[in-house]
Amino acid sequence: VTRSVIVGCGAYLPQRVVTNAELAEKVETTDDWIVERTGIRSRHIAADGETTADLATHAARDALAHAGIDASEVGLIVLATATPDNTFPATAAKVQARLGCVGGPAFDVQAVCSGFVYALAVADNFIKAGQVKTALVIGAETFSRILDWNDRTTCVLFGDGAGAVVLRAEEAAGTNRDRGILSTHLHSDGTQHDLLYVDGGPSSTQTVGHLRMTGREVFRHAVVNLAQVVKEAIEANGLTASDIDWLVPHQANKRIIDGTAKKLNVSAERVVVTVERHANTSAASIPLALNEAVKDGRIQPGQLVLLEAMGGGFTWGSALVRM
Ligand code: ACO
Repeated sequence: VTRSVIVGCGAYLPQRVVTNAELAEKVETTDDWIVERTGIRSRHIAADGETTADLATHAARDALAHAGIDASEVGLIVLATATPDNTFPATAAKVQARLGCVGGPAFDVQAVCSGFVYALAVADNFIKAGQVKTALVIGAETFSRILDWNDRTTCVLFGDGAGAVVLRAEEAAGTNRDRGILSTHLHSDGTQHDLLYVDGGPSSTQTVGHLRMTGREVFRHAVVNLAQVVKEAIEANGLTASDIDWLVPHQANKRIIDGTAKKLNVSAERVVVTVERHANTSAASIPLALNEAVKDGRIQPGQLVLLEAMGGGFTWGSALVRM
């Protein structure tokens, strides 16, 4: 059996940090309101002219360095983003050119906040099918560009950033004690489009538009869908929640994260949380959190890590990985 093993992690956050207090100078909000409802205290915001491809390239280089792998070995780039530099070509192609590894496939995946789990699943399937030996999976976003900075109900929730992993094909004996991605589980429900979307696009309004969200409804669906998809991952592998060493959730909201962990009966010490410093970075949030916990030594080789996300579409998904 061929398995995709995470052999390196990387991240990049724009230099500029914007606190809740700074936002409170622009819209009618308070640090207390934001912290209490979301757990968010600050977020990174890209500089003028700094694009998703810039963030993605930094994160990719960091992941390659961590893996000790030269860019020339990368046979596939899958980049999850809802904020590409251009309508086309794909931001992944731009990153590929900058890394200097042209020739193999490079494309974007659009599943908003679930984008990284979707991209990971796509790359995993390329590797399992024997088509690729080494893949870069990137989640990169500049949500600051699509926020309505006059809408206090959304602009306080998001930030910019990028994270990446390097996947490598490894032959495994086939038991679930082996290293690598054990399974991925993806879902979508397009009937919920209007609860979370960007009100523009090349084919409809010929504009980029702004993020629109019915927060309370999204919250309600997130809790239900995430509980379902983490259960699915655990049961598909014949495991129980107590086998999970680390939960690395999409970082949208501390209350959603806590709710999912509680339903799973995973204690807070086993949940990687970055939302207070990164806010919601959409497709970048999981690889950013994973990178942090791998690099600070919390996540150790051999440990079982459960990734989960939910986002616009709706889309949702999970991945179970032995590091
Ligand atoms: N500052 C102060 N007051 C605010 C702000 C703000 N930034 N935003 C909204 N309010 C007000 C509202 O206007 C409302 O006032 P009203 O009662 O006078 O009308 C009041 O606060 C309560 O608003 P609600 O929207 O009902 O507040 P809620 O408790 O639902 O919290 C929140 C809002 C934080 C957006 C929550 O619904 C949430 O987290 N939803 C999930 C959304 C999410 O995380 N989406 C990310 C993408 S999808 C995903 O990744 C899961």
